[in-house]
Amino acid sequence: MSEDNKIAGVLWGGRFEGGPSKSLEDISRSWHFDIRLAKYDISGSIAHARALSSVGILHVDEFETIERELKVIGDEVLKGSLVPSSGDEDVHGFLERILIERVGVETGGKLRAGRSRNDQIAAIIRMYLLDSEVLIRKYVVLMLEAIEEQATKAFTGINKKPVVMPGRTHLQHAQPVLLTHHLLAHGWALLRDLERLTDWKKRAKYSTYGASALAGDSLGLDENAIAKELGFLNLEPNSIDATASRDIVAEFSFILSLIAVNLSRFAEEIILWNTKEFDFIKLDDAYSTGSSIMPQKKNPDISELTRGKSGRIIGNFTGLLTTLKGLPLAYNRDLQEDKEPVFDSVDQLLLILPAFAGQLKTAQFNYKKMHLTAAGGFALATDIANWLVKRGVPFRIAHELTGECVQLCEERQLTDASDGFGEDYDLKHLSDSDFERILGGALKKYSISEEVCFAAGVREVLSIEGSVASRSSFSGTAPSSVSKQLINFIKKVNDFR
Ligand code: ARG
Repeated sequence: MSEDNKIAGVLWGGRFEGGPSKSLEDISRSWHFDIRLAKYDISGSIAHARALSSVGILHVDEFETIERELKVIGDEVLKGSLVPSSGDEDVHGFLERILIERVGVETGGKLRAGRSRNDQIAAIIRMYLLDSEVLIRKYVVLMLEAIEEQATKAFTGINKKPVVMPGRTHLQHAQPVLLTHHLLAHGWALLRDLERLTDWKKRAKYSTYGASALAGDSLGLDENAIAKELGFLNLEPNSIDATASRDIVAEFSFILSLIAVNLSRFAEEIILWNTKEFDFIKLDDAYSTGSSIMPQKKNPDISELTRGKSGRIIGNFTGLLTTLKGLPLAYNRDLQEDKEPVFDSVDQLLLILPAFAGQLKTAQFNYKKMHLTAAGGFALATDIANWLVKRGVPFRIAHELTGECVQLCEERQLTDASDGFGEDYDLKHLSDSDFERILGGALKKYSISEEVCFAAGVREVLSIEGSVASRSSFSGTAPSSVSKQLINFIKKVNDFR
């Protein structure tokens, strides 16, 4: 290979007779995506050069020249005035080529001593991810703030009282819950994702410098000093693992997938709530789109794109795991394929998070419709069953008897247009004598209390307010519980701010 080629951004030309084929160059090239690591590569090179000067491999003035020039190169790459050329292979080779062009091979050519691209890339991908983590965290917090704002508003949303909505299982009406409670459910999931990121950082802050190609460095470089300069807290204990593993990248990618999945579930609800049939939410014009053909339309594109992009982010994660599966130790070139997917996950999430947070913050919930439909679909049936249980009736029997009440409503098509449901049948339309007939026998048999007119008692739990107030367990939907939950949530969000 010609002298030109040796400093043309390909770092391995020595033993080769001819230059690489075009197809090899094409498949090998990675600078078009790993250029985003230039900043970290330069910091890594400066720290490495300092270690080389400490052991006398670089003279002090050589080190200073390299440090100064690398910083200039870094600025130019950042500004975009310096870009790789097609003969360059990766960001490492490109930066070294430019350095040697500018300071000469006598000085610049010494930089590669004592390290390999294998330990270099393993370290700098971690540096990049640690910086990305800061950004992702910031935007997840933005999202949590939007949840906090809407949850707080909804707690006093109707006449200073909490807004109640239909709580669902299997997407069917199940039991009424507070809107605040429901919104916080999304919030806690995202808070756990932030905790996952915090935990991940502990493992990511290990430096791989000193691992060299795979077996370790033999020049006696101060790897602790390099790690410290680059912001790492520890050294990876095993050079083979340090260069071969990408679990740090995979774990990060997994956490991003989980954030995306959590947002996607919320997105799906917003899409449903935004339909005419639900009519639970009105999205701000600034966060919805129109249709090119149907002038009346207002579409929830942010939620749809969140749902769509979450699939792509999961794909990035599973793709990486598939790349890692079956790789023998230590470094294999396959590992170059770790970068594009994780870069894409970071990029996509940084698009999703601020858009979703804005969409939520500016959305108007239709409190009235939520409240009106909260008890629909016999959502208060469990309350009758529990009322019976509290009076000594075994739950299995209480469940059956309540089922009979529901059946009777359906048979008689007992309905009340004023409840906002039109054709929905509601337990409250059963008469006192209906209740007496269906429930009376069991109450007589098991009752531990002496209530005479129990129909009035049943009716008491057949109200939305009575139903939610009764669910006062720690995590339950009673306003007394949810108000504490909201305070705890806000405290937690503050911890992450
Ligand atoms: N560009 C490679 C990567 O991203 C780093 C270079 C290591 N290459 C090698 N032939 N040892 O993994």
